[in-house]
Amino acid sequence: MSGPLLEIRGLAVVFPTRGGLVRAVDGVDLEVFSGECLGVVGESGSGKSVTFLAVLGLLRPPGRIEAGEIRFEGRTISGLPEAELRELRGRAIAITLQDALTALNPALTVEQQIVETIEAHDPDLPRGRARRRILRERAQELLRLVGIPEPARRLAAYPHELSGGMRQRVMIAIALSCRPKLLIADEPTTALDVTIQAQVLDLLAELRERLGTAIVLVSHDLGVVAEHCGRVVVMYAGQVVERGPTAAVIGEPRHPYTRGLLRSIPSIAEPERPIRPIPGQMADPIRPPPGCRFEPRCSLARPACRLPIALRPIDGGRAARCVEVAA
Ligand SMILES: Nc1ncnc2c1ncn2[C@@H]1O[C@H](COP(=O)(O)OP(=O)(O)OP(=O)(O)O)[C@@H](O)[C@H]1O
Ligand SMILES: [Mg+2]
Repeated sequence: MSGPLLEIRGLAVVFPTRGGLVRAVDGVDLEVFSGECLGVVGESGSGKSVTFLAVLGLLRPPGRIEAGEIRFEGRTISGLPEAELRELRGRAIAITLQDALTALNPALTVEQQIVETIEAHDPDLPRGRARRRILRERAQELLRLVGIPEPARRLAAYPHELSGGMRQRVMIAIALSCRPKLLIADEPTTALDVTIQAQVLDLLAELRERLGTAIVLVSHDLGVVAEHCGRVVVMYAGQVVERGPTAAVIGEPRHPYTRGLLRSIPSIAEPERPIRPIPGQMADPIRPPPGCRFEPRCSLARPACRLPIALRPIDGGRAARCVEVAA
């Protein structure tokens, strides 16, 4: 297939609240290609999770897609009835949610949860005794695949009996049980210590290589993305502000927000450089600035920045939403 695996066009997601309409995602365009690892970065509240919950039809009402189109393998999936979305979640696209402990069911063992998803997506399982044996074998195989030692013993464990890293692995195992073409990993390592973080990320890289699964790695850590993703999308206040090949975006960021984000992480290239957080606060999602959403925090802001601006293409498959980039 030549087109992207996943294509998001002009996505807008809103949440009606007592204080007004929260514009969580507002005009997001992005695509994911077969087999790639795409990084999605941005500060807390920039709309990363909501974007992908919308893709999978997992927005909690009253949250809803207000505008835009989502296509998977060329077919429009936004607006599909829940039954078809559920099938898609099982067959083609999987997500590991940001919070592993709440995403897993505390009342069910690891085996019960894995078996539940396998059963839901495989209509060809035999009946009777053979079924149980096959399901158990498959569950063990999945745990082995994600590097859990002693899988037979772990199957009987409840989520609270596992470490954070183990829980992430179990979530990944559940996500992989349907052999998805696209795995969305939402902050898979945030709650983990550095060593375990590296192990989970290496696991994702290995799965991509071995199974050819495309991965979207959602993270607020540009350093993690730099190491694992060929392309990156930078989000700010519900919009994409920059995108392109990771090395180019990090080597020569074109949006002041991306530059700020780079300065706010322990540098990959210059470990001695001081970390400088971006001053100011994330834009109000109910009353966002009319032009560039970063304008109120931007040291380079000028009057032109208060007018609406689209992503502007730059050579090399890049784009940035900034007046500094020639239209
Ligand atoms: N159920 C909800 N009701 C109202 N607003 C919501 C709801 N869920 C998300 N939002 C708002 O949508 C915006 C985007 O949230 P989202 O969770 O996508 O951010 P994020 O980029 O994933 O942040 P983080 O890095 O903290 O995970 C935020 O302003 C958030 O407050
Ligand atoms: Mg999130």
